[in-house]
Amino acid sequence: MHHNKLQKIFIALIASSVIWPLLAQTAEDVVVSAAQNSDLHARVLAASCAACHGTNGNAVTGSNENRNAILAGRDANDFTTIMLGFKDGSREATVMHHHAKGLTEDEIRQLAVYFSKQKPTGAVLLKPQTLKAYHE
Ligand code: HEC
Repeated sequence: MHHNKLQKIFIALIASSVIWPLLAQTAEDVVVSAAQNSDLHARVLAASCAACHGTNGNAVTGSNENRNAILAGRDANDFTTIMLGFKDGSREATVMHHHAKGLTEDEIRQLAVYFSKQKPTGAVLLKPQTLKAYHE
């Protein structure tokens, strides 16, 4: 009886000492690989640019105005120069200085490489669909 209880406790201890490190290991792996995988980090950062510059830097404005600049396929050095200008305030901006200041210089370089590797898709806004306003 007494033994049985101890055995259960023992088994529970063994089980948790096996399971917990496994769970911890998995979580740790994810964190570590995210930090090490700069491409993944760049993709996460690039997602914050998507609202204005499109998915993977392919803005769908059909124009290349600065505010909706297509970043895909952009020369990495030009990109870095522009972003560092936003960051140190030497380049005029309405919103980009906020974005650039939130990035480290290293992150800007990672983004530069990331966007330079994206293929411009030449995405354009679809024409608004025109529907006939009557039925037969
Ligand atoms: C809220 C919309 C918005 C978001 C989000 C945004 N941008 Fe911009 N971006 C702009 C605007 C507006 C400009 C024009 C400069 C200005 O007025 O700030 C611009 C300009 C730029 C330019 C210069 C383009 C050129 O040819 O002169 C680059 C490069 C750029 N953004 C990169 C980024 C990156 C990288 C991110 C994400 C970290 C980002 N932007 C997020 C709105 C945005």
